[in-house]
Amino acid sequence: MVSLLSIGLRWGMQLLALVFLFYFSASTNSEGLRINQTFTPGELWWDNEGTHINAHGGGILYHDHTYYWFGEHKTAGRGGNTALVGVQVYASRDLLNWSNEGVALSVVDEAGHDIERGAVIERPKVVYNESTGKFVMWFHLELKGQGYIAARAGVAVAEEVTGPYTFIESLRPNAQHWPVNMDADFKNQDVDLDQYEWWTPRWRKAVDEGLFVRRDFEGGQMSRDMTVFVDDDGKAYHVFSSEENLTIHIAELSDDYLSHTGRYIRIFPGGHNEAPALFKHEGRYYMITSGCTGWDPNAARSAMATSIWGPWEMLGNPCVGEGADLTFHSQSTFVLPVAGKEGAFIFMGDRWRPRNPIDGRYVWLPIKFEGHKPVIEWHEEWDLSVFDE
Ligand code: GAL
Repeated sequence: MVSLLSIGLRWGMQLLALVFLFYFSASTNSEGLRINQTFTPGELWWDNEGTHINAHGGGILYHDHTYYWFGEHKTAGRGGNTALVGVQVYASRDLLNWSNEGVALSVVDEAGHDIERGAVIERPKVVYNESTGKFVMWFHLELKGQGYIAARAGVAVAEEVTGPYTFIESLRPNAQHWPVNMDADFKNQDVDLDQYEWWTPRWRKAVDEGLFVRRDFEGGQMSRDMTVFVDDDGKAYHVFSSEENLTIHIAELSDDYLSHTGRYIRIFPGGHNEAPALFKHEGRYYMITSGCTGWDPNAARSAMATSIWGPWEMLGNPCVGEGADLTFHSQSTFVLPVAGKEGAFIFMGDRWRPRNPIDGRYVWLPIKFEGHKPVIEWHEEWDLSVFDE
């Protein structure tokens, strides 16, 4: 009898706690629209119509006092990792409450088209070009039915921030250009590629010496996980995992952001870095990346440079505390500078759900600095006031 009573009480308390949590973390306004008041990393994140936000591997553009969140539209079930819809865009003024602005870049129903429905479109990033007044979207593209072999970058352009974006082309960047930081002697050598046994213990030497760059010299460099970064001087850079995901390339974009200039560097050859996110703080460039374990999380890495052209210095795992070894079960996608708050940056990561991709979660956490090192700690629940502390 007593134990029945105590079970009843416990259930009652739990129910009360749930109601309390629901009321305070998300309530509704007079129009019945949902209001989010805190970030709750890893939980479902409702848009203002009560649907979990569908913008994975995303990036954010701040334009005209509004944040625009672009990301991969995913669907339910295993096939949901391919692009069946396109790139979705959401808008927000406070980073917590997002309205669904629809499909920014739509897949195409034309057999053989680069962005044919069923292709892989990942990690879209949109930037605004001040001089042309156009919005430019870059993304990682894998051609339909070819797994991850194509390793291409796609580019699309729009007159309005939310689109529609018009697909321009996809390519492997920097064909017939050597990296700026490659040994001049090596560029000029006449190397017989067949003498190298790829993927044997000699691969490390092969990577260091840039043999993948040489292999892909004519057709362009492989380009998978990526981001785009715009510097204070308006120059934009495409940063991507290249050389079989072994080496990051930082490549300068043309003044209209629609192509590569051919000027690029390789960083951390053989370092196996994916998911690059770049930001700038007090004149220093920072990069957060992940290791290479597919949809499974691993420990993040960070790096710093005083020039985007390097040298880049490894700073180790920016995450601290419990869960740091797996980036709190997430993988980086973007670092967002909070508008109007000097030094306030948000780490954006994805908690992938490859068996049901639409259910993938977002892990957003504040970045703080210890000296010149970015540090990310877990927060169950937080808001922008953490940056005032
Ligand atoms: C991850 C990558 C994702 C996606 C996935 C496919 O490593 O970061 O964007 O490409 O692999 O397995």
